[in-house]
Amino acid sequence: MTTTNRHILVTSALPYANGSIHIGHLVEYIQTDIWVRFQKMQGHDCIYVCADDAHGTPIMLRAQKEGITPEQLIAATDREHRADFADFHIGFDNFHSTHSEENREIAETIYKRLRDGGHIEKRTIKQAYDPEKEMFLPDRFIKGTCPKCGAEDQYGDNCEVCGATYAPTELKNPVSVVSGATPVEKESEHYFFKLADFELMLRQWTQGEHTQPAISNKLNEWFEAGLQSWDISRDAPYFGFEIPDAPGKFFYVWLDAPMGYMASFKNLCSKRDDLDFDAWWKAGSDYELYHFIGKDIAYFHTLFWPAVLSGSGFRTPSAVFCHGFLTVNGQKMSKSRGTFIKARTYLDNLNPEYLRYYFAAKLGSGIDDLDLNLDDFIQRVNADLVGKMVNIASRCAGYISKKCDGQLSKTCAEPALYNEFVAAGEKIAALYEKREFSHAVREIMALADRANQYIDEQKPWALAKEEGKQEQVRDIYSMGINLFRVLMTYLKPVLPVMAEASKTFLNIDSMQWSDIKVPLLDHAISKFKPLMTRVEQEKVDALIAASKEDLKQEHHKTERKASIKTVNENIEPIAEQIEFTDFAKVDLRIAKIIKAEHVEGADKLLQLTLDIGNETRNVFAGIKSAYAPEELEGKLTVMVANLAPRKMRFGVSEGMVLAAGPGGKDLWILEPHQGAQPGMRVK
Ligand code: 2FM
Ligand code: ZN
Repeated sequence: MTTTNRHILVTSALPYANGSIHIGHLVEYIQTDIWVRFQKMQGHDCIYVCADDAHGTPIMLRAQKEGITPEQLIAATDREHRADFADFHIGFDNFHSTHSEENREIAETIYKRLRDGGHIEKRTIKQAYDPEKEMFLPDRFIKGTCPKCGAEDQYGDNCEVCGATYAPTELKNPVSVVSGATPVEKESEHYFFKLADFELMLRQWTQGEHTQPAISNKLNEWFEAGLQSWDISRDAPYFGFEIPDAPGKFFYVWLDAPMGYMASFKNLCSKRDDLDFDAWWKAGSDYELYHFIGKDIAYFHTLFWPAVLSGSGFRTPSAVFCHGFLTVNGQKMSKSRGTFIKARTYLDNLNPEYLRYYFAAKLGSGIDDLDLNLDDFIQRVNADLVGKMVNIASRCAGYISKKCDGQLSKTCAEPALYNEFVAAGEKIAALYEKREFSHAVREIMALADRANQYIDEQKPWALAKEEGKQEQVRDIYSMGINLFRVLMTYLKPVLPVMAEASKTFLNIDSMQWSDIKVPLLDHAISKFKPLMTRVEQEKVDALIAASKEDLKQEHHKTERKASIKTVNENIEPIAEQIEFTDFAKVDLRIAKIIKAEHVEGADKLLQLTLDIGNETRNVFAGIKSAYAPEELEGKLTVMVANLAPRKMRFGVSEGMVLAAGPGGKDLWILEPHQGAQPGMRVK
């Protein structure tokens, strides 16, 4: 391990500002946070920044749907994300937003430099356009029938049934997800970043240590396929930054998203005197820069991003670290199985450090997917953290507290064993550095077994019963406590809260990697309090049940959006959602039609006189196409009795009669059961 003080800037991918953090996201934030905490424990100058990814069409449309501005939406999400991350102990040095002045300035600077360097070209392209909503449609906002297999309700870019990829123009019966209208093709001028200008630079950059082997292979495929220019502009309406020399054109969200890393750092510079933005970001800077991301966004980070940075005179990343996806119980996270678990739902039920530990125990440096098996999760956390780690401290603490007044021995009982534990730190540190966390955890747990074994062999509880063995017993327990301290230090990047509680128990101020060289001797510890409790099966069950409940809530919110996607022009989009309390205001009553008459000059209306128990009402109903007046007289129906009277051309209508059907002849008034009495409330 190098002992020089390194300067390391670390980022995690910026979460979109229109959705909640879920445990799939947390793989990355936990992985990054462990790495950062490890670096800080080495005494390095390590800075961890992130931000919300706040721009783009989905955010704009989501805000519209909720009847709020995008700014209001992203402010609300910002609060939610910050709380989720804080409660999972993700220790960002700064969390910012891509919708910030710093980011606008950086995006403009980079764009202008690329443009002036000749790396931007303009081209007119044809795109799907929603004539009703008057906006261009991203592929994901068009649905239709797959041109290959005929599956209905497929997205504009690929078919989930047969896996075919195609252009949205190839879809059969395409509809705009936004309005239900049929998209038309429309031309517009777009701005492109000429990625191919950077082929040489990228081929070199991707040779070295900057990418993982699996990603380098992928990169070779991309080079083979040829580097295409990248469309970096979008037409209004768009929530983002307007391109400086192009009114009505906006930077595509994916252009200003990675710039958000720089913006967040810049924002941190404004809060701290010791940070010099240029020292970290100038071309050729020897400070380190690492991006942790999911493998799905490798293209953006290993091709576009280094090229954009290089073309605009900034440094390029030291490395991009990709990870795989999360599965739960061997399958994709599923809302219906209750395994699509939001960060907040998890926090409402379980200790975040269980998940931090479990992920650490499974994470490697590669891009393999990671499985959260819930039975294994319970078993592993309980066996390792409670059964092994907490056990060492708890079995040693009692005697030291009660019989020795909390005072540890003056000498180390087994220096060789202690030194063995300290020496293992070098290997463990190297594994953390390489992001081989599962391997590091295995090493630490093997040492925990050794520590427990040592105590088992020494049998201090038996010795304690013998005359004159008190000092020896204290030495053994003190040794156990010292081994616990070393192990807890090694686990601190993973378990910051348990480490903090251990510091209190051990009565120490610092828990840096280098502190363990010297054991705690002749030192008073505090009273032991449980450092971690067992994972309970019931809590895990409750978490799954609560996640299913989340799905239902979500259903209410998003299913109506999905229903607009249905390819049936007869079906009007469902109106804006109302709360139950709104619905409960509607007073539905049984009404008896005592008179029904034609209305002079009206094609659709009949005039009804309704008996609703204590009063009669005059109502105009548009049901003439389906009923002759004489058919209606004497019938019972259902009416909205508390609708405010409406003045119509033919008189005042004092309520509304409920009917069902598509219209014309196919229209039926609702007819309650015969036992109903006029005036009864309809439930
Ligand atoms: O894929 C995503 O969730 C993006 N919001 C990640 C952006 S990472 C960076 F480029 F900003
Ligand atoms: Zn298909």
